[in-house]
Amino acid sequence: MEYLWVKHLHVTCVVLSISLFALRGTLELTSQPWRQWRLLRVAPHLVDTLLLGSALWLAWRIGQYPFVDAWLTAKVLALLAYILLGMRALGRNTPQALRLPYFAGALLSVGYIVGVALTHSPSWGLS
Ligand code: HEM
Repeated sequence: MEYLWVKHLHVTCVVLSISLFALRGTLELTSQPWRQWRLLRVAPHLVDTLLLGSALWLAWRIGQYPFVDAWLTAKVLALLAYILLGMRALGRNTPQALRLPYFAGALLSVGYIVGVALTHSPSWGLS
């Protein structure tokens, strides 16, 4: 029961995190001053903290860990890529021409993570 509750929280944070990132990326690409909106500056930090906290709790509860179990290692490494590419996509000093490739890369990374999460496999169960 408790496990399912935290898993729902994790998945809700996933949806919010991707939506907030996609929104900020789109606003940045269209040169909208989104940093003026406090909600868009603060909410992603709260959501991402809950996302990671619930992830660690779930991993501990099922006794599977990054760098021990391949699917969780893949999730953590792709999460790192998502964070780094996302920071570049939204960074103040990023040249405008590079924003779209960084943005697309970040979305591909997080899409890959969702696939790994659903299949519990780094190759999405295709190998
Ligand atoms: C942006 C990053 C992440 C995304 C998009 C994501 C996505 C998801 C999704 C969609 C599920 C539900 C899967 C299902 O319905 O069976 C899930 C479950 C889970 N995630 Fe994540 N996750 C992320 C980060 C992490 C990280 C970093 C860890 C590990 C430390 C982690 C550990 C878990 C665990 C243990 C479950 C439960 C699996 C199960 O009950 O079968 N997640 N994740």
